[in-house]
Amino acid sequence: MLILGIETSCDETAAAVVSDADVGARLRANLVFTQLEEHRLYGGVVPEIAARSHLERIDALVAEALREAGVDFADLDAIAATTGPGLIGGVMVGMMTAKAIAAVHGKPFVAVNHLEGHALTARLTHDLPFPYLLLLVSGGHCQLLAVEGVGRYRRYGGTIDDAVGEAFDKTAKLLELGYPGGPAVERRARSGDPRRIALPRPMVGRPGCDFSFSGLKTAVRHALGKLESVTPQDRADLAAAFQAAVADVLADRSARALARFQAETGQSGPLVVAGGVAANATLRARLSDVAQAQGTELIAPPMALCTDNGAMIAWAGLERFRLGAVDGLDFPARPRWPL
Ligand code: KG4
Ligand code: ZN
Repeated sequence: MLILGIETSCDETAAAVVSDADVGARLRANLVFTQLEEHRLYGGVVPEIAARSHLERIDALVAEALREAGVDFADLDAIAATTGPGLIGGVMVGMMTAKAIAAVHGKPFVAVNHLEGHALTARLTHDLPFPYLLLLVSGGHCQLLAVEGVGRYRRYGGTIDDAVGEAFDKTAKLLELGYPGGPAVERRARSGDPRRIALPRPMVGRPGCDFSFSGLKTAVRHALGKLESVTPQDRADLAAAFQAAVADVLADRSARALARFQAETGQSGPLVVAGGVAANATLRARLSDVAQAQGTELIAPPMALCTDNGAMIAWAGLERFRLGAVDGLDFPARPRWPL
């Protein structure tokens, strides 16, 4: 089975071809064009610029993905695209491209929820049966879910304010570390002392599995305000303190969710992490400790498959398609679409 997947919901234009071969041979092509440079000047993603940029590149990217995979449109079993959640202009570009290909070549169209793409990525790269506990941490989302099957998600908790990636991005802005924020904070934190400046650990120790990050970001702002002149070392120390606080919060919440998952399913795990923030090495190390302390392991997709890409959409499309899911060409774009 061969599926083309298209992703255009934020600032990455992506196209990929995946198959249902054995792990290791599934990724036939995975091309990502990042619009970073087009948005850098504005310090964040500008929706109109993103949509136009997707439109300019998507056709060539799809053609290149097919070439790299060594296949034709005729060889494909279905065409999958992100139909939400995300920036509506960008979602429309990828979705309409996929629908047009499906219509012209007489192929099934499969609509994919971007979050489901992240949620199932670990099954593309690992022999991973259901169920598993998923920590989904991206720019727009922060959730803990029991993944019981394709389309079967039970939410244990989520953020009551900012998403964790958003907190990284806003903190990077406060610290003037550049854009995009997550990787910038991680880089600068390497030369920082996480213990010099104390930051809060919102929600740690509380019952339930919810998160809160806005207070942490505010605490960074206050800490900055107390410094007389902000040196590069101050920025590094604050970046390290922020990253350590986030890791503590995510570890505490994940440990709780894992205990609940173990009690409910009678299975030890595994703990799976996905989404752009899962590219953070400090975080991965902490989550790995959490999993081990509770008798299981952490499964994390490779970095390049944590941030937005086409392979995750192609794979989620494949998982849905092989269960019989096909969507109509009238399927709507959904800027908001919870899992
Ligand atoms: O999943 P993703 O690529 O897009 C969304 O669906 O949101 O996630 C992007 C988010 C951004 O907030 C970015 O700052 C964050 O993931 N991110 C990181 C790292 N790499 C990307 N956060 C922390 N550490 C990183 N290394
Ligand atoms: Zn994403």
